[in-house]
Amino acid sequence: MPAFERMVLMTGNANRPLAQHIAECVRRPLARVLVSRFRDGETQVLIEDDIRNADVFIVQPTSPPVNENLMELLVLIDAARRASAGRITAVLPYYGYSRQEKKTRGREPITAKLVANLLTTAGANRILTVDLTNPAIEGFFDIPVDHLTAAKLLATRIKELCYDEEIVLVAPDEGAVRRVDHFRRYFHREVPLAVIFKDRPRPDEVKVVGLVGDVTGKTAVLVDDIISTGGTLTAAAEEVQKRGATRILAAVTHPVLAEGAAERLAETSIERILITDTIYTPELPPLFEVVTLAPLLGEVLNRIHFGISVSELMRNNVPL
Ligand code: R5P
Repeated sequence: MPAFERMVLMTGNANRPLAQHIAECVRRPLARVLVSRFRDGETQVLIEDDIRNADVFIVQPTSPPVNENLMELLVLIDAARRASAGRITAVLPYYGYSRQEKKTRGREPITAKLVANLLTTAGANRILTVDLTNPAIEGFFDIPVDHLTAAKLLATRIKELCYDEEIVLVAPDEGAVRRVDHFRRYFHREVPLAVIFKDRPRPDEVKVVGLVGDVTGKTAVLVDDIISTGGTLTAAAEEVQKRGATRILAAVTHPVLAEGAAERLAETSIERILITDTIYTPELPPLFEVVTLAPLLGEVLNRIHFGISVSELMRNNVPL
């Protein structure tokens, strides 16, 4: 028996297609919610359905425009709490501000923690998110956090695209090593790793300073969590091509895609970039292929609602 009788799904404006797709997966309609702006630009929310004592899931990635989408999420949580929701789960397929999770020099904020505080203060009882840049962000919350990964789904598609090829999984920077090692678990054969060492002379500039591993004569698969300016993937692709990789693919969870990034990546030797739909990306060049996370998120919502383990879903032998 679920702790709360009804499951209610609602969304803001950040990624309605994903929310709709999740709703289809869990076979429930999206609740009727007005999310718009007052004339002065303030966020206006009105929940039109009765959600008293319900198990409410609010799907809203805090993707660009980050501040707008974050504010919508906070106001939705507040409205749900004041409407006597039984439990509120904030579903952030993409957690904006996650890259400011520590101070790298004096007098900087830790915005990932500030966002955690805001979500909790607004009234979220649980958090569901995907591929955080740094898993330590989970510890910024004192409420349960389900941290999913898109690795299994992305790796499954990579296996289809590279059947029988000699693959090397490439971490495009040191920070990605654990992520890539986790990605490797979803291959049923031994797959080597390579690591690129990068430097950022300026915030939006990437310079490769080294590569450890062997990519010569292999299909190089670049694995990362975020594409923002595309600088990291572009530099990594140039490096593995220079070192003799025969084919280059990429698998990245969050397509933040700052202005000009898609065009920039279309100029590289990357043959295909797998991304997910954590962030809404309406028009992209054919270089990009979207792997949807909706069935995974739908299954997780059901499991949270019915009190069933979520972590076992990430195992290799459990089908999604
Ligand atoms: C940072 O360390 C992340 O893992 C990504 O590599 C980074 O955010 C990608 O940003 P960009 O596309 O701007 O290089």
